Amino acid sequence: MNENINPFLYNCWYAAAWAHEVPEGTKLDRVYLEKPIVIYRGESGKLIALDNRCCHRGAPLSLGRVEGDCIRCMYHGMKYDPEGVVIEIPGQDFIGPNHKVQSYPIVEKGNLLWIWMGDPALANPENIHDYPPLSDSSWRGFEKEAYLHYDANWMLIVDNLADFSHLAFVHTDTLGGSEDYAFVTNPQVEKLDNGFNVVRWSKNDAPAPYHAKVNPDVPEKLDRCNSVQMLVPGIFFMSTIMAPVGWDPDSDNYEGVKQYRNCQYMTPETRSTTHFFWNYMHDYRTDDPSISKSLQASLLEGFMEDKEIIEAQQKMLQYQDEFQPRGLQGDEALVHFRKLYNALISAERERYDFHTRQLGNSII
Ligand code: FES
Ligand SMILES: [Fe+2]
Repeated sequence: MNENINPFLYNCWYAAAWAHEVPEGTKLDRVYLEKPIVIYRGESGKLIALDNRCCHRGAPLSLGRVEGDCIRCMYHGMKYDPEGVVIEIPGQDFIGPNHKVQSYPIVEKGNLLWIWMGDPALANPENIHDYPPLSDSSWRGFEKEAYLHYDANWMLIVDNLADFSHLAFVHTDTLGGSEDYAFVTNPQVEKLDNGFNVVRWSKNDAPAPYHAKVNPDVPEKLDRCNSVQMLVPGIFFMSTIMAPVGWDPDSDNYEGVKQYRNCQYMTPETRSTTHFFWNYMHDYRTDDPSISKSLQASLLEGFMEDKEIIEAQQKMLQYQDEFQPRGLQGDEALVHFRKLYNALISAERERYDFHTRQLGNSII
């Protein structure tokens, strides 16, 4: 990736935060696509997202005071309405047309807050990729949905999730179970207009360690399936089945079958750092809180293994000399995703100039 080229797609919804990260009366200071943003809930409960830099001297509005649905910069006291327009300047009657900051569409859906960094006229909440298990009580997830910060470009995390043969080597003792997983499985890739699906059966295989931990009676072998969906800009859903060997996936008989649902959202903070939101849900013994605690600990252990290798990969790719990746068959999904993403970027660049806008850092 050329570090100097702005790599971001603007006209799409990005996962910005879990709802529990912005309780009433608090402000969240977070960067998306290299823009500092403040998110807060006004006293009416309204969610608001504004540029985090006061238009006067650039102090962070996240250090400001919420007044009703407005926010007051606590440096020299300018007060902004929820649209980012200054409505009061202490000691000054004149308010000019440039006394404002940009506001961004923000919506709460499925326990997540979603932000739109592009043309507000196109921001249709119907297009948010909601994940129904997050709001369905037949699935039990974490006590609080989880967040990780990555020192890596989000697309490297997308790559990682596009090819599960890495489970065998990166996660042998946590999520994988054995190195055989990389050799014996034959994933089916379905290319979509906005991403891809991958179905990966691993039959008569050792149970994944995280599954065995919460199911002491698990047989030595079972049939495992991971059905993955990845959507632009970096939204990942996965259904996992752990079934008795020989189970017929077309049957209605789910006796002895245990399932999981997983969502992961990769939102660029900068071109070399990423916000990563995730949850992992199960459908059995949902009244037992120890299962989701154990799953969270096991999965986190696995994700830290990913993080270690991906962040190390990021460092390698930052060297400025030419590096030409040599493809493998297993790269089919990620190659498709990059082509698709690059086509969307090119189309967006023809009509919009978001990518050329500089941060207003001219105050000295
Ligand atoms: S920096 Fe915000 S009012 Fe001066
Ligand atoms: Fe992984």
